[in-house]
Amino acid sequence: MGTSLERLIATTEELSTEILRAQLDTPSDIEAFRIRFIGQKRGLITQLFKQIPRLPKEDRRTAGQVLNALRKKAQATLDSAHQKSVSDPVNLSEIDLTLPGRKNQWTGSRHPITLALSRITDIFHRMGFTIAEGPEMEDDWHNFTALNFPEDHPARDMQDTLFIDEKSPDQPRIMMRTHTSPVQIRTMMAGEPPFRLIAPGRVYRNEAITYKSYCLFHQVEGLVVDEGITMADLKDTLYRFARAFFGEDVKLRYRSSFFPFTEPSAELDIWWNLPDHPDGGRWMEILGSGMVHPNVLEAVGLDPERYTGYAFGMGVERPAMLRYDIKDIRLFYENDVRFLAQF
Ligand code: DAH
Repeated sequence: MGTSLERLIATTEELSTEILRAQLDTPSDIEAFRIRFIGQKRGLITQLFKQIPRLPKEDRRTAGQVLNALRKKAQATLDSAHQKSVSDPVNLSEIDLTLPGRKNQWTGSRHPITLALSRITDIFHRMGFTIAEGPEMEDDWHNFTALNFPEDHPARDMQDTLFIDEKSPDQPRIMMRTHTSPVQIRTMMAGEPPFRLIAPGRVYRNEAITYKSYCLFHQVEGLVVDEGITMADLKDTLYRFARAFFGEDVKLRYRSSFFPFTEPSAELDIWWNLPDHPDGGRWMEILGSGMVHPNVLEAVGLDPERYTGYAFGMGVERPAMLRYDIKDIRLFYENDVRFLAQF
């Protein structure tokens, strides 16, 4: 029991330091302070007073004195804070009442890439596609070999690919994925046809940065594999997508192209209306596509005699630029609030 007085005095000292350091700048600071220390019900000092009857008789007097001193100190701190808040009134003659109010709360908005991505995924979701994901760090086999890139293909070059440091030359080369196409390989290896999926994600390229290319960007990969899938299915899906995303009156062109992992291959261009442009606008390529190459199906253990499929890979930044009328891809990555707040 003898330690109780000691403990009470120790607590008193702690509270006393806290009172000394208290910063009471606003009315709510002052009120919080009052409740914490001398509040009728749970004030810390009030609680300590309630312990007095439980102390040995000979200690009660000292305890009472110590606590009274503490309560006075708290009260004095409160009083002077009160005083200060009333004696420091705002001088109304110095306030310019014509100034606009200060906005203390900003409403956040979604990043235009997020907006475009969720529009894209929504549209494919309605067409029965599911979502797949893969790692952003890939190995050479998934990113290139299984996708039928020849050993000496220029895309494997240091120019385009951001390689991760290799510990030893006999380890497989690891890189930041240059496209979302490796997710095709991963999902086909992990399951059985039919496949009908999209794979959104970030991709990385060691590219010169310009108004329309950046070292990091987003793609949405598409893959449909089943018996009897044809190029007509592919074209139909892409045209439906383009009309849903850009509007019924979208002007587009589907022209043949080349990718190692599709045969035949084609790209979709969207007309970009630019009133200041000499031709009134220009074509903007937004995606590559084609029929999945038989070598790719074989690489993942599917019989190309039985299964056919189509694939596509679209950028997200470019469609977002077209839809939201953004003239420079770099704006997406600068995080300037004046830009971001417009969406
Ligand atoms: N992976 C290609 C790229 O990044 C885009 C692409 C083209 C993906 C054709 C596909 C495809 O799935 O079929 O440039």
